[in-house]
Amino acid sequence: MEQEKRSALDFSSDVVIQLDHWQRRTPLQIDFRDSAQGNHAQFWLHIAQQYLTWIVPPTRALRWQPPQSGSKPPWVEWFGDGELNVAENCVDRHIRTWRRNKAAIIWESEPGDVRVLTYFDLYRQVQRFANVLLGLGVRKGDRVTIYLPMIPEAAVAMLACARIGAIHSVVFGGFSAEALRERINDSQSSVLITADGGWRRGSIVPLKRNADQALEQCPSVRHVVVIHRGVEDATHVPMQSGRDQWWHRLMEEVPPSCPPEPMESEDPLFILYTSGTTGKPKGQLHTTAGYLTGVAATTQWVFDLADEDVYWCTADIGWITGHSYVIYGPLANGATVFMYEGAPDYPDRDRWWALVEKYGVTILYTAPTAIRTMMRWGEEYVRRHNLESLRLLGSVGEPINPEAWLWYWENIGGKRCPVVDTWWQTETGCIVIAPLPGITPLKPGSATRPLPGFRASVLDDSGDRVTPGRRGYLVLEHPWPAMSRTIWGDHARYVETYWSRFPGKYFTGDAATCDRDGYYWLLGRTDDVLNVAGHRLSTMELESILVEHPAVAEAAVIGRTDAVKGQVPVAFITVRESFPMHAGLADELKDYVVERIGALARPAEVHFTAELPKTRSGKIMRRLLRDIAEGHVLGDTTTLADPGVVKHLVQLYREE
Ligand code: WTA
Repeated sequence: MEQEKRSALDFSSDVVIQLDHWQRRTPLQIDFRDSAQGNHAQFWLHIAQQYLTWIVPPTRALRWQPPQSGSKPPWVEWFGDGELNVAENCVDRHIRTWRRNKAAIIWESEPGDVRVLTYFDLYRQVQRFANVLLGLGVRKGDRVTIYLPMIPEAAVAMLACARIGAIHSVVFGGFSAEALRERINDSQSSVLITADGGWRRGSIVPLKRNADQALEQCPSVRHVVVIHRGVEDATHVPMQSGRDQWWHRLMEEVPPSCPPEPMESEDPLFILYTSGTTGKPKGQLHTTAGYLTGVAATTQWVFDLADEDVYWCTADIGWITGHSYVIYGPLANGATVFMYEGAPDYPDRDRWWALVEKYGVTILYTAPTAIRTMMRWGEEYVRRHNLESLRLLGSVGEPINPEAWLWYWENIGGKRCPVVDTWWQTETGCIVIAPLPGITPLKPGSATRPLPGFRASVLDDSGDRVTPGRRGYLVLEHPWPAMSRTIWGDHARYVETYWSRFPGKYFTGDAATCDRDGYYWLLGRTDDVLNVAGHRLSTMELESILVEHPAVAEAAVIGRTDAVKGQVPVAFITVRESFPMHAGLADELKDYVVERIGALARPAEVHFTAELPKTRSGKIMRRLLRDIAEGHVLGDTTTLADPGVVKHLVQLYREE
């Protein structure tokens, strides 16, 4: 690990914002610090008992052995003797209280139609859809893939799976047919739930058409349930007989009630695919009780979510943030969740602020890339609306630079609302490092401290703690309930990726520094994972797609810093000699990546070079490519096509 000093962040590490007038609405019901300092496992057991409704309450906290190579799951067990059902916790228990008629989900589509589902509506629909799934032969442990836009049925489908113990795998609606196919085949799902389409920036996203293309090579899928959004006339949607059925028809045909399946704590809840350092996406497996404990508690701690709030997390359900902080965490707390289907700039760049005003949103949780985009659009769009309902702002997905933090704080929050910068991962399941608003003083650009029940540290290459202010690897010192338990079908890779670098400790893959006050400053990934607009992409995944194109001999992809998206992919390509080079090839390769993964992976630049710079042992010199892409080495990268230039650069780098 390079012992470089923080630069961009240095200036703000001493800026502390303490909001004296800001009051929590939800009291912290226990003294976290005392509890966490003693025994973290007992601490979490108390939290699990306090936040969840159990069929059989657990008495055991934790059993674990750090996984080693060759070890198999299950290797960790949280609340092992408990039984519960997640759908019961997110829905049924609320309808037994005054929340029965409270809005659970307020939804607005991009064209502007509105639907409100109360907890009782959700209760009815989840049970019906659970019966639909049972009728299609889905049983406990079976996998169901969900490929939907941001519509309330996405929540219904996820909760219906949880109700019967089926494992859902939600695939982001912006992923292409190929990406969907790969994920269906890896999970071996028997049912796919999709829609005729969704709206994005005024156009239709043809989900069913993508699904049909994917399903040409998905032998495990026996049934497809299609929601009719009405983006197309139902008679125009091709329905394969025997395989495809309409959601609304199936919902009419089933009985209204379906009791929740009692699940053991460690029974799987869902698989969610995320990019890692290799070409193949990793299916992170989350389990029932630990996951729900983590998300239910952190939602209340970090967002101070109360009954009066209208809470809006802008993440798509296709990502972990959508799972944990649109669906499971807020609904477990009986909250009112606002959901919006479409783009922030449709029909105009003030859409988000119009929605905040219209629904009186009190808590907004979004990504730095969105904040930077809004910053670029300018304050005029924000000023068109009254945002006084807001009382708390959140950030997630990538480091938030102090400039964007301060813009968010001033222009959106009116210097009234704490900004909670939340660090976590698909693997951690729930937020790990974040302020407790009303308690933790804020420092713009820092995610502050680990939450109660977590212990983090920053280590050097040999596993020793670095001194405060130095850069190192961020690790978590002990297991926590919401952690991913394995990579679906590849436990060896799980052990290798997360538990081998520093044995017994969880390796996050992120670089960080911890300052003298114990505040963490996240400094990005240390591996070949890109973070593009808060979405994780693997350089290897992009490279292996590019080399499948007939023009490409070799490909190297790196992340270049981008003022709005954080990072963007840049590809360096050597072309096959037999391939006739033509002017449109760069665009063709960009489109090729979009077709195979989705628009979020589109390379910002494609450079053709006569050779790729390599070390003597044949490894691509990514640092050199990164420097070239950032403009540190060459002003004009087109000269790269000259092999002499590359040789010269490699020489320079070796001599460094
Ligand atoms: C990055 C998203 C800095 C980090 C919840 C992590 C962050 C990866 C932050 C996980 C933050 C997420 N500050 N970096 N507040 N939040 N990251 O799995 O590199 O999509 O490892 O989970 O995003 O991305 P994932």
